[in-house]
Amino acid sequence: MLGSVEGHRCLEIGCGGGGLIERLLSQKAACVAALDHSPDMLALAMAHNQRAVADERLQLKLGDAAEIPWPDQTFDAAVSANMFFFIEEPQRVLDELFRVLRPGARLVIVTTPGPLPKASLRNWWLYVWGPALHVHSNAQMESMFSRAGFVNVRIESDDTLQCCQGSRPH
Ligand SMILES: C[S@@+](CC[C@H](N)C(=O)[O-])C[C@H]1O[C@@H](n2cnc3c(N)ncnc32)[C@H](O)[C@@H]1O
Repeated sequence: MLGSVEGHRCLEIGCGGGGLIERLLSQKAACVAALDHSPDMLALAMAHNQRAVADERLQLKLGDAAEIPWPDQTFDAAVSANMFFFIEEPQRVLDELFRVLRPGARLVIVTTPGPLPKASLRNWWLYVWGPALHVHSNAQMESMFSRAGFVNVRIESDDTLQCCQGSRPH
């Protein structure tokens, strides 16, 4: 969904163990910055991407997506995969993502669509995780993206995945 990242300065929020970081770097991103609020996850991402850190192609920071620790208009692309459902203040995070993106830059968020189905044996995980998840309908995501200032907003979903994209106007 992010398209070509070749030569781009990319940001991932909620990077976890760093699998997506590896992909962005292998797709020739100029550099990647990644944020996670878990020191353990950040240590894993560091361990998996030591070479890129040493080569200064990867910068990892401990922090919260509600206060992204990079200056205004730093990145050409930003991505959030499998983490937006943890976010308690989604509009604040989208405003922050807009702030750190350059004019014309793209944002892609892949998350779980709302509303969640009723928990059942088939969806057993919803008994455990459901109450803690913050999920939003396509219309809600579209409205929050637009309120943050994003244009060319496209939100698509099936039963399990919601893919949201937008760009900062030129
Ligand atoms: C399920 S993992 C996904 C990791 C990775 N993006 C992936 O797709 O493999 C979610 C990650 O988001 C991080 N996270 C959750 N809420 C966060 C927040 N408010 N700020 C920064 N990181 C957060 C968690 O610590 C965790 O590492």
